[in-house]
Amino acid sequence: MKKIEAFIRHEAFDPIRRDLLDVGVPSMSVAEVKGSGRQEGVVEHYRGAELVIHLRPKLKIECVVDDSEVEKVVDIILNNAKSGEVGDGKIFIIPVEETIRIRTGERGSDVLEPHLSQEQE
Ligand SMILES: Nc1ncnc2c1ncn2[C@@H]1O[C@H](COP(=O)(O)OP(=O)(O)OP(=O)(O)O)[C@@H](O)[C@H]1O
Ligand SMILES: [Mg+2]
Repeated sequence: MKKIEAFIRHEAFDPIRRDLLDVGVPSMSVAEVKGSGRQEGVVEHYRGAELVIHLRPKLKIECVVDDSEVEKVVDIILNNAKSGEVGDGKIFIIPVEETIRIRTGERGSDVLEPHLSQEQE
């Protein structure tokens, strides 16, 4: 199992979510974060004063999947998040030791399978 952690622009999220749903990957966490990449900062001007903005808002997507799904998820993120401009973001792939569904105590990568029925939370 791997955790795919992607820092993306906000506008890339909806198409990524749609494509992940289409390939059967509905489970994820999303958070608003602020971050910086390798650029030194963006210069803005406010009432005549120069201001360097070091942190920019990004979305972080975390998605834990079976090893066999990793390339599919990475491709979807790349296809939708790449504009070619600096600041498109990054993807990290992190090993996950164990997954446990709290409701049932089940463990392992079966826990990551999408549900077939229409159970509601
Ligand atoms: N090494 C890192 N560790 C943690 N988060 C990172 C790292 N690199 C980038 N990020 C996150 O990704 C966001 C976007 O990074 P960004 O796309 O600017 O990376 P970059 O390496 O500067 O590439 P580019 O030259 O294309 O801008 C950052 O604002 C930050 O939230
Ligand atoms: Mg950058």
